[in-house]
Amino acid sequence: MNDHDTLILGIETSCDETAAAVVAGGRRILSNVVASQVDIHKRFGGVVPEVASRQHILAIVPVVNQALADADVTWKDLAGVAVTYGPGLVGSLLVGLNMAKSLAFAHGLPLIGVNHLEGHLYAAWLLDGDAPTFPLLGLVVSGAHSTLVMMTGHGQYQALGRTIDDAAGEAFDKVARLLGLGYPGGPVIQKAAESGNPSAYPLPRAWLRGTYDFSFSGLKTAVLRTIEEKSSVPGFTTVTPQGTVVNPAYVADLAASFQQAVVDVLVEKTRQASLEFPVTAIILGGGVAANTALRQGLKAALKLPLLVPPPALCTDNAAGIASAGHFHLLNGERSGWDLDVKPTARLG
Ligand code: KG4
Ligand code: ZN
Repeated sequence: MNDHDTLILGIETSCDETAAAVVAGGRRILSNVVASQVDIHKRFGGVVPEVASRQHILAIVPVVNQALADADVTWKDLAGVAVTYGPGLVGSLLVGLNMAKSLAFAHGLPLIGVNHLEGHLYAAWLLDGDAPTFPLLGLVVSGAHSTLVMMTGHGQYQALGRTIDDAAGEAFDKVARLLGLGYPGGPVIQKAAESGNPSAYPLPRAWLRGTYDFSFSGLKTAVLRTIEEKSSVPGFTTVTPQGTVVNPAYVADLAASFQQAVVDVLVEKTRQASLEFPVTAIILGGGVAANTALRQGLKAALKLPLLVPPPALCTDNAAGIASAGHFHLLNGERSGWDLDVKPTARLG
C-alpha cells in the first residue's frame, strides 16, 4: 500500500476532545472534526475524567459521522481505522478505542493503534510542502507531557528526556489557576503575558543539566510563593466576592515572567539536542506548541528548520492520529482485535 490517495479514518478521545478525521496519503486532511469539552470542564477548573468519558460517549458517533460527511467519503473508500490507545485518561481512551474496533471490524478494515504523542508529531506531515526527512527531533509539549524525542523512521522513536514532574501545559494550567485566569491556562496566560514584562520576576529555571529531562513543578511553586510574599504590598490583590484576586497589572508581569521561564528551558534543551544529534529538522507539537513565545523562541534559537503546525493541529485532534496510522499501515503494521488502552504508554 503506497497510494497517496489511501484514506485513513483517525479517532482520538484520550482527554477532553472527541475527534475524528479523514486523511489521504498520511498528508492531506479531508476532514478534521473536534468536539471540545472545554466549556464543560471550565467550571471545575480542569478536566474531570468521569465527565469526560460520558461526553465522549455522547459525541463519538456524531463526530465520526461528521468526519466522513465532511470528507465526502463512505466506509468502502477507507483503507483503515487509526485510533489513540494511550497515553490518556482510561475512561476516555476506552470510548474511542471501542468505537474504532467496532467500526473496523464491522467494515472489514484494519485497526491501527497509535500513541497519542505520535499523533502530535505527525501534525508535521500535514503541513504543505515536502514531507519531513529522518532523522528528526521532536518536542512534544502538552497538558500531560513534555518529551524530547528522536525519530529515526516512521514509528521509530528514542526518547531523550521527559518531564520528571509536571508537564509544561500542566504548569500553564496550574499557574493560570493561581492567577485567577481560568482554564485552560495556556491561552489565557499567553494573552495576559502580552502586556507584561517577562523579566519582572526572577523565577527559577530547572536546567537538570546533563539530561534532556524537564521539571516545572518548582516553577509553579515559585509563582505561588511570589504571590504569597507580595500579598502584603498595597494594591497587589483585591478582595472580591469570588475571593482574593491578583490585580491585572501584576498578573500580566507574573504571567509573562512565568511564560518566559518555561520557554527558556524548552528552547535551550531543544537547541542543545539539535546540536548533539544529526537531525534534519525539529518538529514542535502538542497543545503548548500553540504558544507564540515558544514558537518565536525556538525559531530564533534553532539553526535547523522548525516544523510548526498551525494551532488547531497542535492541540488534540485526530488528523495526526490518522497520519501516523497511515505510515504504520504502510510499514505493514496493524493491531489485533485484542488491542487494549494503555493510559501510561510512553514513546521510545
Ligand atoms: O495537546 P493538548 O491539546 O492535550 C494534551 O494532550 O494534554 O494540550 C493541552 C495543553 C493545556 O495544558 C493548555 O493549557 C496548553 O496545552 N495550551 C497552551 C496554549 N494553548 C494550549 N499552552 C501555552 N500556550 C498556549 N497558547
Ligand atoms: Zn495531546
